[in-house]
Amino acid sequence: MKTFSFALLVLAMPVLVVAQSVTHFDAGAKVFRLDGGNSSYVFGVNARGELQQLYWGGRLGATDSFPKAKPAMDWASFDDSYSNTPQEYAGWGAGLFVEPALKVTFADGNRDLVLHYESHTETANGFEVVLKDIKQPVYVTLHYAIDPESGILARSATIENRGTDAVTVEQAAAAAWALPAGHYTLNYLTGRWAGEWTLTQETVHPGARVLESRRGSTGHQANPWFAIQTGDADENHGDVWFGALGWSGSWRITVEQDQLDAVRVTGGFNPFDFGYVLKAVARLETPVFYGGYSAHGLGGASRLLHRYEIAHILPRTQKTAGQPEPELRPVIYNSWEATEFKVTEAGQVALAEKAAALGVDRFVMDDGWFGQRKDDRAGLGDWYVNQEKFPHGLKPLIDKVHALGMDFGLWVEPEMVNPDSDLYRKHPDWVLHFPGRPETEQRNQLVLNLARPDVRDYILGFLDKILTDNDIAFLKWDYNRNWSEPGWDQLPAAEQKRVYVDFTRNLYGILADLRKKHPNVEIESCSGGGGRVDLGILRYTDEVWPSDNTDPFDRLSQQDGFSYAYTPQVMMAWVTDSPHWLNKRTTSVSYRMLSSMQGSLGIGANIANWTPEEAATAKRLIAAYHQVQPTIVQGDLYRLISPRNGSEFSATQTVNHDKSQSVVFAFIHSTQMGRIFPTLKLKGLDPAAQYALTPIEGKARAGAPAAASGAWWMNHGLDFSDDFRGDFQAAAFRLDKR
Ligand code: DGJ
Repeated sequence: MKTFSFALLVLAMPVLVVAQSVTHFDAGAKVFRLDGGNSSYVFGVNARGELQQLYWGGRLGATDSFPKAKPAMDWASFDDSYSNTPQEYAGWGAGLFVEPALKVTFADGNRDLVLHYESHTETANGFEVVLKDIKQPVYVTLHYAIDPESGILARSATIENRGTDAVTVEQAAAAAWALPAGHYTLNYLTGRWAGEWTLTQETVHPGARVLESRRGSTGHQANPWFAIQTGDADENHGDVWFGALGWSGSWRITVEQDQLDAVRVTGGFNPFDFGYVLKAVARLETPVFYGGYSAHGLGGASRLLHRYEIAHILPRTQKTAGQPEPELRPVIYNSWEATEFKVTEAGQVALAEKAAALGVDRFVMDDGWFGQRKDDRAGLGDWYVNQEKFPHGLKPLIDKVHALGMDFGLWVEPEMVNPDSDLYRKHPDWVLHFPGRPETEQRNQLVLNLARPDVRDYILGFLDKILTDNDIAFLKWDYNRNWSEPGWDQLPAAEQKRVYVDFTRNLYGILADLRKKHPNVEIESCSGGGGRVDLGILRYTDEVWPSDNTDPFDRLSQQDGFSYAYTPQVMMAWVTDSPHWLNKRTTSVSYRMLSSMQGSLGIGANIANWTPEEAATAKRLIAAYHQVQPTIVQGDLYRLISPRNGSEFSATQTVNHDKSQSVVFAFIHSTQMGRIFPTLKLKGLDPAAQYALTPIEGKARAGAPAAASGAWWMNHGLDFSDDFRGDFQAAAFRLDKR
C-alpha cells in the first residue's frame, strides 16, 4: 500500500519545518495510521475482523509501528470482549452492550448486525474503510481525513443496503472515539434562550452522559461539542481530546465510561424517534464528526479548532475563493433592538445615516419589513415587501444605504409560517404536523416541512427572487422555534421519520444553491440567538448570532464559552442600549464596545438616542477595531483570565499567526477591597522580538515600558494603570512588533 508523504519536511536554509500528514497502512499487521499536526490516530483489524481503535494522542515517531490489533479480554461472562473492545464503528449485535454506532432492523425482523472489515482505499489525507455485516449485504464505508496542520480528523460513515429487502436504520453515528481507562473531566456547552454558552465541567463517571438535541435543530440547551481532559490538564497544559459534530438537526453525543473505565464518545443523528428506511441499493450519509487532540490544554484545543474552522469549514464568497482566510466580517448595524417590528423607510434611513457616521460597513434591516408583519403574530411566509412601510419597495432604502457607503443586509426566517399568513391559508399541509392532531404554536408560528420538495422549491424560489431583484449583500437567516408534531404524511408511515435527515439536508441544499447563484452573498445563521451554531451550518454560513442576550457583561462569559468551540471570526457581537433590556444593567459605551470588539463587531443600539460623546467614542473605537480586526478574529486566542464563576476580572489576548501583532482586552466586574488589576503575563509572542504597546482604551501603569521584548511581556507581564478600578471597567491594548 502506498505511503503518503513523511513526518517532517526539513529544508536546508533557513530551517523550515512544515507539518505534513502521513497516512500509512501496514498490510502485515493490518494497522492504519494517520498523522497530522502534533497528533496520531491509529486503528487496526483485529482477529475477529472488527475495526479496533489502537491509539489517539500526541504524534508518534515516524518509524514506530503497532502490532496487530487484539480484541480486549473477556472480563467475565457479564463483561464480554465485544463490549470491552473499542471498536471504530460497532454494529448492535453479537454481545455488544455499550453504545453502538449503528443499529438496524432487517425486513424479516432480524436485528443482529456485526460489522467486519472488508476492504479499504487510501485517499489524499486518509482512508475509506469498508465494513460489511457478517451475513447481510449491509455495507458501511468509514471516511477518515486528517488535516496535516491541526491534526483534526474528519470522520463520517456511508451506510449502504446492497440487498433487495429494505433495512431500517434506527441509530447511526458519524463516528465513535475512544480513550483508554483513566481519570477524565468532560467539558460541554449548555444553556437556554438568552443564556447560551455556559461551559459545564464535570468528572467523567461510569455510565453515560448524553449531550443532545431532540428539537429538530441544534438547540440552545446543548451544543454538539465536547472536550475531555486528563485530571491534571487545564487551560494551558495537558492532554485534551475534543470533537464537534457537523449537524444542524437533532443530534446526540454520548460520553460513556464503560465497565473497565475506558471512555467512548459516540455521536451522530439522534436515535430518539429516528428511523431511516434504506430500500434496495440506497445509502445514508451521516454527518461529519471532527475530532482532535492537544497537549496544550483547553486553550491549545480551541486554537486548533479555530484554525481548522477558518481554513476548512467556513465558506468563501467569489471574492475570497481559494484564499486561506474568509473575508473579515463587516462592522454591521442592525435595527432590531432599536425598532423591533416598527420598521419604516424613514426610520431606517435615519438610523442608516447615524450608522454611516460611526464608520459602520453594513446596514441590516431586521424583522418587520414584509407581509402583514406588525408583530410576531402574522406575516411569516409572505415574503413580499409591506407596501405601507415601504411604498416604493426596498430600492430607495437600499440606494440610500449604498450612497452612505455601506452595503445592505436583510432579515429572513424562511422555514417558518404564521397561521395568520396567506401562505398558511393556501398550504396548511406544508407544516410539520400529525393529521388530526393539534399543531403546537411557538412564538405564534409553525415549522414548514422543508423535507418536502415543494416547500424546498418555494423557499429557494422566494429567496432567489429577493436576491435577484435587490442589491443585497447579506441575509440574516433566523429560525425562532423548535419542532413539534414532526409528521410528514405524504410518505408511507414507515418512512416518515426520514424527515429528521431530509429537512436538514434540504436546508443545506438551499443554502448551497443560493450561494452558487449569488456567489458574493453572505449569510448569518441565527436561531433566536445561538440555537443553530454547529460545524454543519458553518459550511454554508459566514457568521452566527450567538445570543439574543446582548448585555455586555453577560456576553463576556457567553463569548468565553463560545470560544471553546467556535472561532471569534463567526461570533457576531453587537453594542446595544444601556440600561440593558434584559438585566437592566447600566454600562458605558466604552465597556460595551470593548466587550463586543472581542468578536466580529456590530452596533445594535438605538443610535438616534446616543449623545455626541457616546457616538464619538463608538466612532473612535470602530476605527481602532478596523485596524486590528484580523488579529482579533483570525489570530490565536488565549483566555488569560476567565470571566466565569463570578470572577472579579477577566482578560483575553489574541496573537496573529506571524506573531507581529497582539491585542489584549481586560475587564473589571467590580473592584473589591481596592484590588488592582493583576499583572497580565501575555502568551504566544516571539520572545526575541520587540513589541510597542499602544493603548486602544485605558492606560498602562505609569513607568511601564512603551516597548519591550516578547520575553518581557510574557515573563514580566503588562501592568495596568492604578486607576483601572471600579464597576464594569474595560481596557484594551495592541502590541506591534517593531
Ligand atoms: C430573533 C433574533 O435572534 C433577533 O436578533 C431578531 O432578529 C428577532 N428574532 C426578530 O424577530
